Amino acid sequence: MRRLVAETQVSVNDLIAPLFVREDISEPQPIVSLPGVMQHSQESLRAEVKELAQLGIPGIVLFGLPNRKDATGSEAWNPDGVVQVALRNLRDDHGDSIVSIADLCVDEYTDHGHCGVLTPQGYVDNDATLELYQKVALAQAEAGADMVAPSGMMDGQVAAIRQALDANGHQITPILAYSAKYASAEYGPFREAVDVTISGGGNRKAYQQDPANRRESMEEIRLDIAEGADAVMVKPALAYLDVIAAARAEFDVPLAAYHVSGEYAMLKAAAANGWIDGPATAFEHLTSIKRAGADMILTYLAREVAEILQ
Ligand code: PBG
Repeated sequence: MRRLVAETQVSVNDLIAPLFVREDISEPQPIVSLPGVMQHSQESLRAEVKELAQLGIPGIVLFGLPNRKDATGSEAWNPDGVVQVALRNLRDDHGDSIVSIADLCVDEYTDHGHCGVLTPQGYVDNDATLELYQKVALAQAEAGADMVAPSGMMDGQVAAIRQALDANGHQITPILAYSAKYASAEYGPFREAVDVTISGGGNRKAYQQDPANRRESMEEIRLDIAEGADAVMVKPALAYLDVIAAARAEFDVPLAAYHVSGEYAMLKAAAANGWIDGPATAFEHLTSIKRAGADMILTYLAREVAEILQ
């Protein structure tokens, strides 16, 4: 009876697995604060994605750890950069049968850890960064990304990327915009996963959203859709279910939510101590995110949940 009347269902079709690929390794490296998640070598990434595809997971999102960082993050648009190599491998392995999404940002590639290039005064230069994002988008699309996902929260990034893709023969590559991305304390484990430290103890409050604001996020989403976003995102998820629900009520494009590294780490740490039932909590979290209105969920739980659903 409960199954018949359930209003919300988590399905494998909702899941996008975030994956990390690192340039200088031959064996996968565990990430201490994300138990069960690895920094992958190119080969172990291929093996992992084959298993995720067999489990029926429809999409993955890729983050890269380059050998070399510099002030502009130039490895991010190197045609032979770590994510571009991975995208080509995945296209060879899977064709169109799994959606390869490329996270589009430069913070994993800059030596200062910001999501853009800096002015001499040390501020992130929004408009100069847009030109870098255009180069990254082209490198990713040319390497076989099925979708690009700009996560840097620069104003005008969706329009700039759309224009660059359209002008270079990639009209059909969609954009998943990290539109309402909050300056959250829940990204800590991710920064370990991608080996990013923001120089000088800095933060991203000048370009990511203030957790106090919901209306401002609606404006961010509205602008991204007007600039050509095909799908939009709210991030993190659980502390922002009201934002997800408001976005669902107001906009009709596909809506993603990112259950971020800190959300996963809190769940795993409590479960490891026997303080909560891990799998039950995982389903409760993901069901709530869907109930709030998300169509798809980026989550480090993807593999585990797909295995249970199977
Ligand atoms: C930035 C980016 C971040 C995450 C995804 N893309 C970190 C940040 O904004 O500092 C966080 C994801 C997570 O915590 O799981 N390119």
